[in-house]
Amino acid sequence: MMQRKLALLVGIGALTVLLMLRWEHVMTLVNLMSSKRPSAEPELPKDTITPIPGSRHLMVSAFKDHRLGGAIRVISIICRQELQPLYCVLCANANADVDAKDDGVMGQCASFQAKVHLHSDDFGFPFVTSDVFCMSLMLQQATHVSITANPYVIHNLTFLSIQNQEVKESFRYSFTVCISNLFGEYNNALQFAQTMEVYKLLGVQRVVIYNTSCGPDVEKILKYYRKEGMLEVVPWPIDKFLTPSTGWKYDLHHGDIHYYGQLTTLNECMYRYMYQSKYLLLNDIDEIIMPYKHANLEKLMGTLQEQHPNAGVFKIKNHIFPKTQFDDSGRFRLARWRSVPGVNILEHVYREPDRKHVFNPTKLLINPRSVEQTSVHTTLKQFGLVFNVPFDVCRIIHVRVPLQGKLSKDQLFVDKKLWEFEELLIPSIDRALNESGVL
Ligand SMILES: *[C@@H]1O[C@H](CO)[C@@H](O)[C@H](O)[C@H]1NC(C)=O
Ligand SMILES: *[C@@H]1O[C@H](CO)[C@@H](O)[C@H](O)[C@H]1NC(C)=O
Ligand SMILES: *[C@@H]1O[C@H](CO)[C@@H](O)[C@H](O)[C@H]1NC(C)=O
Repeated sequence: MMQRKLALLVGIGALTVLLMLRWEHVMTLVNLMSSKRPSAEPELPKDTITPIPGSRHLMVSAFKDHRLGGAIRVISIICRQELQPLYCVLCANANADVDAKDDGVMGQCASFQAKVHLHSDDFGFPFVTSDVFCMSLMLQQATHVSITANPYVIHNLTFLSIQNQEVKESFRYSFTVCISNLFGEYNNALQFAQTMEVYKLLGVQRVVIYNTSCGPDVEKILKYYRKEGMLEVVPWPIDKFLTPSTGWKYDLHHGDIHYYGQLTTLNECMYRYMYQSKYLLLNDIDEIIMPYKHANLEKLMGTLQEQHPNAGVFKIKNHIFPKTQFDDSGRFRLARWRSVPGVNILEHVYREPDRKHVFNPTKLLINPRSVEQTSVHTTLKQFGLVFNVPFDVCRIIHVRVPLQGKLSKDQLFVDKKLWEFEELLIPSIDRALNESGVL
């Protein structure tokens, strides 16, 4: 044990010298092997959102970025009116592999100035999704990081564990949907359960949802899918820290941050699943990215990726299916679903036409390893090419309030794509509604 510690100290001594020589911003090098630190384990966050001490900024999670030489990115929410120097405290859990617990050490920490990159898309709000970068020679061993505006007060920092330590070439999931935010008393349980079952039939194996709050029936549906294993619910109590906006634009909706931090959660999800999922679908809870020429997403992406081997971002056009227009036959107006709150997407088979002079926003299907920063409708920084997927190959089925509410049925297109899934879809929706307890 003594020998290991000695070797470690010598190594870290050498590192210190290197650090001092190389980086002007190296502030302190703190030896936590002494008894300064009361416990073996770093103080981990109580929440998915953690205030950055000495500031109004917030930090969320930390990831090693192998595409940027192993730099550590701390996904953060920065108040752009109160920019100030921020510092990284990087720690290496020296004995993580063996006996950290009985040893009572956390290893070595270094603190130095961080580089803050605000994302370019802020929709006018004061709090902006940002990458706080920590770059130091200690990168290779670092296991935990904290961001602070007070570099000399380090005794009770909250540390984030650094994720994505290893590059992986094979993934647990092929297709994962990231649903950015659930908030308010959202209780559209029927549409959510139906959408989850359509996703399954399309080959989605995982859905991630950031939950600020929801209504009682959606809560039951969430619990059902979490128990069943398809859904990860990430707590997202952003309203404890900021006043979220209920709309997308600061001038119209005010508040501290765009929606409920949608841009932050999308980026968080992208890094969280970078080495867990081959592809990510970044869309809202009421949207389905639907292949129209392939039986499922696997086949769609097989074709698209073969035609566009260097593309890592696939933009899919949104299409509105007004929830105010119902299919006349009433074929799927099932009496047993009537008591479940929410929209029955199978009843809405009318699609609004594209308008020539109105921009039709896209949503994204991405290879997360080829993207560095994302927004809602486009990526902001990516390594590969971006491909606009033609409307006839894949489009979004988005059942919601109409955008062109004046159009009558004969001015809309009939699109019964969802009905093709009837045979497997109806029984699985029944099961979900039944077992979740909303029926
Ligand atoms: C730091 O520790 C002190 C005393 O242990 C405590 O009063 C204070 O609230 C702590 N600060 C934070 C940010 O946890
Ligand atoms: C979603 O968040 C609300 C508010 O914190 C909480 O009451 C609810 O239990 C959460 N739902 C799930 C499924 O985690
Ligand atoms: C719902 O569950 C009950 C008992 O668990 C079962 O008897 C019933 O057939 C189920 N209904 C549907 C539509 O699956």
